[in-house]
Amino acid sequence: MKIIKEINRENLELVKKEILNDNLVIFPTETVYGIGANALKSEAVSKIFEVKTRALNNPLIVHLKSKDEISKYATILNLVEQKLIDSFMPGPFTIILKKKDIIPNCVSANLDTVGIRIPINKIAHEFLEYVDVPIAAPSANISSRPSGTKVEDIKDEFEGKVNYIIDGGESKIGLESTVVKVIDNVPTILRPGFITKEDIENVIGTCNVSPHVLSEIKDNTKAESPGMLYKHYAPRTKCLLVYSNNLDKLKTLVKENMTSKTIILASSRLENIDCYKYISYGNTLEEISHNIFSKLRECDKYNADLIIIEGVKKEGLGLAIMNRLIRTSNFNYKEL
Ligand code: TXA
Ligand code: MG
Repeated sequence: MKIIKEINRENLELVKKEILNDNLVIFPTETVYGIGANALKSEAVSKIFEVKTRALNNPLIVHLKSKDEISKYATILNLVEQKLIDSFMPGPFTIILKKKDIIPNCVSANLDTVGIRIPINKIAHEFLEYVDVPIAAPSANISSRPSGTKVEDIKDEFEGKVNYIIDGGESKIGLESTVVKVIDNVPTILRPGFITKEDIENVIGTCNVSPHVLSEIKDNTKAESPGMLYKHYAPRTKCLLVYSNNLDKLKTLVKENMTSKTIILASSRLENIDCYKYISYGNTLEEISHNIFSKLRECDKYNADLIIIEGVKKEGLGLAIMNRLIRTSNFNYKEL
């Protein structure tokens, strides 16, 4: 595996060849690292599913170099879709559109829609522009593991399976893009992210959030976004997510559930609790979003038997953080 640190013509040529040979390349984006393949070739795309051990019914997002490309691969059906594209792309935003036939069915897991994203990260953009094919890419992690936000965290997972990783440093945002589908003319958030419900309301007026964002799907047929069905973002150690807006109650929740080998993964509000190990995940929502996946991976290094994670208010970027942490904890969640 070669880790590419410098974006120059020679290295871009290497990764372009790799993509055109139907192989995989890991690349940075502003959200998380992606593991990409030529979206127009089933043989290439099938390698993503294989290497990630990803369920075949979980569709992939197609990454494009610019907005002008969208109409080659998908149909924009209405003004709401157009306005979302104009307002939030390029950026940490994925729109689900009607798929054109040129995109193979394995990309969309046989749905008639396709997720389209245009990253704003400079290296991602240079990569997409140089390879000049649409790139299907999920987050760069083995399925069910925390998404990759820095190369050191993921390189071992893909050793021997992927030949090139483009190193772009730590992902700026740290959580995956907001996934939005327009249903009956109303934008509906299928997966929350850095672009919030409030941001979308400011542009369109209304925005719904899928009820499954914070709850477990009991009936598989009800999943608007198949990704919501699976265990996700999880370290190997068992997790408990706790939340209260009252600090005393929060501390009570932690103490009541703590074992002798518990890691507390939290803001500085909980740093003084006597425990096996305290790990800070930052204090603002932006810091937590940036750090969380890497810190979850770090927790596995301490041989603990439980990670108690401090939850946040489910508003703004907090909704995206809680969407991930609820799944990290496998719905093991207590609120006081
Ligand atoms: O920020 C991101 O979105 C990152 C970077 C690499 O771009 N990618 C990413 O991909 O998070 P992935 O595959 O880990 O998550 C894609 C999510 C899944 O929950 C999937 O079910 C949903 O988007 N999705 C993709 N295509 C869809 C479609 N046609 N309809 C509904 N949901 C879709
Ligand atoms: Mg993922």
